[in-house]
Amino acid sequence: MKSILFVCLGNICRSPLAEGILRKKIAEKNIPVVVDSAGTINWHAGHRPDNRSVMVAQQFGIDISGLRGRHFNSKDFDQFDLILAMDKQNLNDILKLAPDEASKLKVKLCLDFAGLGTNKDVPDPYYGDFEDFDDLYQLLDKACEQIIIKLTA
Ligand code: 4NP
Repeated sequence: MKSILFVCLGNICRSPLAEGILRKKIAEKNIPVVVDSAGTINWHAGHRPDNRSVMVAQQFGIDISGLRGRHFNSKDFDQFDLILAMDKQNLNDILKLAPDEASKLKVKLCLDFAGLGTNKDVPDPYYGDFEDFDDLYQLLDKACEQIIIKLTA
């Protein structure tokens, strides 16, 4: 079974939202994929997602309130086939922990993998307002739609 890990900085805004959106789409389409998320910093380990991500997900019928933050670690390279970083800083921080070349090849920028741009970040919405989270939802929804197409191609 394929497994995908979304990674952002805190694992409370972007990556848990991506996890929730992709989980919903694969459940609707009955696609056997394992989905998880993690953060490159440990500040929010054990915390529930940011309320703004919880609220925007809820508006689209997705409940991510049960997710809990966790710190990305080098075991994730063994456990996941594909590691999708939300921005270039996350990508670099993940690559620094990669034990070998095969592990490095698993790591991609999320929007690159989704075919939605080259070298483009999913903007960090932490210091933004609710509108930024709405934009974030729309972008991640588009990305997850493309990820599903790639997974089922
Ligand atoms: P995320 O957003 O990486 O999308 O979860 C952030 C969450 C927390 C912080 C920064 C970004 N922080 O500085 O605590």
